[in-house]
Amino acid sequence: MTACRICGGDLVEFYDFGRQPLSDAFHKPGQFQDEFFFRLAVGLCTDCTMVQLMEEVPRDKMFHEDYPYYSSGSAVMRKHFELTARRFIETELTGPAPFAVEIGSNDGIMLKTIADAGIKHLGVEPSGGVAELSRSKGVRVLNEFFQESTAVEIAATDGQADVIFSANTICHIPYLDSIFKGVDALLKPNGVFVFEDPYLGEIVRRTSFDQIYDEHYYFFTARSVQSMARRYGFELVDVERLPVHGGETRYTIARQGARQPSPAVAEMIAEENARGLATLPTLEGFGENVTKIKDDLVALLTKLKAEGKTVAAYGATAKSATVANLCGLSADLVSYVCDTTPQKQNRVSPGTHIPVRPAEAFHEDTPDYALLFAWNHAEEIMAKEKQFRDGGGKWILYVPEVHVV
Ligand code: SAH
Ligand code: TMP
Ligand code: ZN
Repeated sequence: MTACRICGGDLVEFYDFGRQPLSDAFHKPGQFQDEFFFRLAVGLCTDCTMVQLMEEVPRDKMFHEDYPYYSSGSAVMRKHFELTARRFIETELTGPAPFAVEIGSNDGIMLKTIADAGIKHLGVEPSGGVAELSRSKGVRVLNEFFQESTAVEIAATDGQADVIFSANTICHIPYLDSIFKGVDALLKPNGVFVFEDPYLGEIVRRTSFDQIYDEHYYFFTARSVQSMARRYGFELVDVERLPVHGGETRYTIARQGARQPSPAVAEMIAEENARGLATLPTLEGFGENVTKIKDDLVALLTKLKAEGKTVAAYGATAKSATVANLCGLSADLVSYVCDTTPQKQNRVSPGTHIPVRPAEAFHEDTPDYALLFAWNHAEEIMAKEKQFRDGGGKWILYVPEVHVV
């Protein structure tokens, strides 16, 4: 029996996605002989209710010099993080010598606004390429993994922080015991630790199973986060639902007794309990929906091919590795995937080896159907590519079920 990474309780597996590659490893054509694979499966802790991967991928394989995810690639996300930073500036960073730390600051998408406001800050970002880009924007960064030792070092040199923020990163970190000990060392007595990640409630509601991949180790609920926070001497004091990335929750954590929890916390936990969110029947039902989407998508793409239609994909997302490898998609069914990220272009998709082409390919070699791998950016992309549908093109979506629009 595998043990829960948070509480040591029994982890019960509820879905096996099979052999999967590193979701952000875009190899050069023909250069994938030593491609890394692991078994992607997900389980529920029957004690603390934390949903998590059954196997851990070593962090250096995922987050390194050439990590190709650049957060600033989406205009919607740039706006989201600018507003996030402004809110911190107006609420938590109003004292005499405010200090903000971000875990997983990537290309500086959030800290840039704090840096521009002249507020003391530090990003902690292990991936060298994105860290370097954020420096060119005037953001101060430590090119390391955040963990207890890093936090102790920062506290010794820079002092404690008013805010420790993290977006789409805490769910990437299996060793959360070390993270919480680090937060304990680095946070001021009345400071807040705020993080936002894909919400299990939304993943189950939309069957957005492609949120499950190597980098996404945990799938949080208000209940599992509350239980985890208490284990380390903290309290969940606020929750806020966010529309970004297909539905996330922002969790605000403070030291026990420091702040009064908002009623939103108890309300969200009551709602999760009422729907039996983190229970085996619900998660097994989710698994059945995943298998149906897989079968429907393969059937649709096979039918389109038989009809002589062309299909390309849009957005070489990390998420798409799960869909593409689960469905066994190859260049035979999906001729290419276009993406704006230079570091992904002229390479092939992980595991399935579909060529990745620049966004312009979509206009020069327009397919009959476009499989929207970046469905979480649907509004932004469909607005930008309006002429595709006007010209008779059709989008294929697979969340919450396979449909063509
Ligand atoms: N915050 C950005 C980036 C999310 S991608 C956004 O929301 O768009 C996840 C980031 O976390 C990557 O840049 C990765 O390098 C970083 N990361 C992974 N493990 C980390 C750790 N232990 N400490 C700090 N950053 C980490
Ligand atoms: P994400 O879903 O993890 O944010 O990844 C989005 C991917 O899609 C990323 O590689 C950038 C790419 N992308 C485009 O190619 N065009 C776009 O308009 C947007 C918003 C993203
Ligand atoms: Zn547990």
